Amino acid sequence: MKSRDEIFKEGRKVVKKIIDQAAETARAETDNVPEPGLTGDFTFPVKATLNKGLEGAITGSTGIGYVNGEKGWLLYRGYNIFDLAANCDFEEVIYLLLYGDLPDVHELEAFKKKLIGYRSIPEVVIDVLKKIPTPHTHPMAALRTAISVLGTLDATADDCSVDAEREVAIRLIAQLPGVVAAIARIREHKRLVPQDISCTHACNFLYTMTGESPIDINNISEAIMNVALILHADHGMNNSTFTGIVINSSLTDMYSSIVGAIGSLKGPLHGGANERVLYMLEEIGNINKVEEWFKDARATKRKLMGFGHRVYKAYDPRGRVLKPLAKKLAEDHPDFMKLYDIAEKLDDLVCKKLGKEKRIFPNVDFYSGLVYRSLGIKSAMFTPIFAVSRIVGWTARALEYLQTNRIMRPRAVYTGDLKKKLIPIEKRKK
Ligand code: ACO
Repeated sequence: MKSRDEIFKEGRKVVKKIIDQAAETARAETDNVPEPGLTGDFTFPVKATLNKGLEGAITGSTGIGYVNGEKGWLLYRGYNIFDLAANCDFEEVIYLLLYGDLPDVHELEAFKKKLIGYRSIPEVVIDVLKKIPTPHTHPMAALRTAISVLGTLDATADDCSVDAEREVAIRLIAQLPGVVAAIARIREHKRLVPQDISCTHACNFLYTMTGESPIDINNISEAIMNVALILHADHGMNNSTFTGIVINSSLTDMYSSIVGAIGSLKGPLHGGANERVLYMLEEIGNINKVEEWFKDARATKRKLMGFGHRVYKAYDPRGRVLKPLAKKLAEDHPDFMKLYDIAEKLDDLVCKKLGKEKRIFPNVDFYSGLVYRSLGIKSAMFTPIFAVSRIVGWTARALEYLQTNRIMRPRAVYTGDLKKKLIPIEKRKK
């Protein structure tokens, strides 16, 4: 009989083949697209044209990651996301983003041990989570609260040296899967599952969420969760990453920065979109209704969840990977395949119409929900899963900025009166 690790290895092979194929297509289609810039040497001051929503603003330089919006490529520290997703453990990618390069065998082993050593969740956090009213509280609100509680338990929280904050970052990265799994199970009044210290971050996360060893009919669940975590780990100066850096730049504690980043990610224009994609697909309900639904959405100027991006003006590379993985997972489930077919048709229509007119394409959130749903996870938990991964980018970039910290402090143009006369309260009339 095969061991669990042998089964996981087989799953990784199947998934690697799917990703390599998606990467080959992506490279063939986009290799010749010229580099759009925002790379190379950089020093302040910089001249930039700003638009609403800080479009065009440059916060500084980074060695962590690069979103090439014209090609639809994503790099973490120089490595293409396709190569990382096809070949790495999520733990290697955490190390890469936090320390600057991929670990060797010994470094990885030591780092994995360290993460496992930090996995356990203090009982008081679980107690607080159990007191949060369900089901009306969104799991992201519960997650935000849990991180806040963790901060109160850490006597070193206010040491804002890079080394101390990195240690907090690693602890939080290790603890987040367990916290999210606890939130999921408490919401459903299920018994909490003890962490499995003998398996990978991805395996332990799925196991503590579902209570079952992540071995499905194709043996690919662990591999796919591993890939999903890699794909979501970092993504330029997105809203939540920027929020985290802004908060951290006041030299507050890392927990406060992560609480803020979670609050940002929760929003439907950001990470909260993945959950809403599923509701949208369920609302459409049938592949024969996609065209009519899309026509109506266009006529009523409805936002299509999981489409569009501030930076990508091409197909999101993460979507290129998640799409065939969603299909593979759905193959054995007619209900999921029905949703996948609706998604694929909508994707096709949007690319043909809005892709041409406005360069709007699917983003990472469009197919991730389908993947998570096929792994047996409820829609409300999709955005917390995003946080389990993105905490790596949040902390890596906050730490990078901290090394040459200057408080983030932009301005706004004042458009009010300049010399208003104060009227005593008893004489004010409105
Ligand atoms: N559906 C329909 N039209 C869209 C969409 C969409 N999803 N996204 C952009 N557009 C249109 C806008 O209406 C606008 O059209 P106009 O020029 O005729 O007014 C044009 O494209 C530009 O869009 P903006 O809203 O200015 O783009 P912005 O960069 O501000 O917003 C955002 C980007 C928030 C991602 C937007 O595309 C959106 O709301 N998408 C849906 C939500 C979503 O999927 N969010 C997840 C993003 S990925 C992530 O954060 C993990």
